[in-house]
Amino acid sequence: MAEKSPRPTDSAFAGRPAFTCPRSTVRDERFKRSIFHLPHENHFDVEGQAAWNRIQEWDQRLAMQVWAAISHFNEIWAAEVPASVIFDLPDQPWAFYLDLARWAYDEMRHSRMGERMMRGWGWNLADEVPFGCAQYNAMGPLDPPHRLALLYYFEDGLMREGIKPREMKILASAKDTASWQDMDYDWADEAQHVHYGYVWVRHLLGIKDDSRFDLGQITNEARAHMLEYVESVKNQPAAHLAPFFDHLYEKLQSAPLVELKTDPNERFDWQPIRAQQE
Ligand SMILES: [Fe+2]
Ligand SMILES: [Fe+2]
Repeated sequence: MAEKSPRPTDSAFAGRPAFTCPRSTVRDERFKRSIFHLPHENHFDVEGQAAWNRIQEWDQRLAMQVWAAISHFNEIWAAEVPASVIFDLPDQPWAFYLDLARWAYDEMRHSRMGERMMRGWGWNLADEVPFGCAQYNAMGPLDPPHRLALLYYFEDGLMREGIKPREMKILASAKDTASWQDMDYDWADEAQHVHYGYVWVRHLLGIKDDSRFDLGQITNEARAHMLEYVESVKNQPAAHLAPFFDHLYEKLQSAPLVELKTDPNERFDWQPIRAQQE
């Protein structure tokens, strides 16, 4: 192997301080500041939940189109978590970096799917869509196993509860094949991410045997921390989502995404995964 060459000193990049991974997010300043992105994240935000419910009660299919796009767009947090864990842990097996890099890359693509979808609807994302920061800001200061465990909890919950096929059924009913395809794509990736989470959280905890080890304790600790964070920011104006969903309700009233033929008796069985649920 060739000798390592000395560090350059005549480059514009020479002598810069070493990069350190931020423990809170930095978002594009053109976006309206928001801590959360959907109402299930913050159970204190009663007005935000009511504003969302108005959309959902008007038409559950239309609400799912909006929910899926905003949710995908905000999966940037799910990229921030594995990327920061890669940065924090320098001496792991190669497969660890390969899987976590893939995980972060997938989540960036999911975020891009939501962005493209809403831009395709003609929405102005910076003004009209909440672009949150709660999950990374809550978990950024924690150790890598807990940070990954929260992400694993959400992804495992989505798979275990069969949420994705239910969401696809609603999007099929909306005849929104583009959102349906995004969700199908997302589902395939998330199934793989549950595997990454299970393997690498166990690895970081030092579990080497093949016994079925319950990750419930660490995911409970991670969720408890997330809920403490929610409590700590609940009174900030940026923690309240009603202004976004009131605006989107009015916007959708004048320009629905699909031609809605709502049967008031048709209800879909669907609930999001929440940090505070049992
Ligand atoms: Fe994702
Ligand atoms: Fe994922």
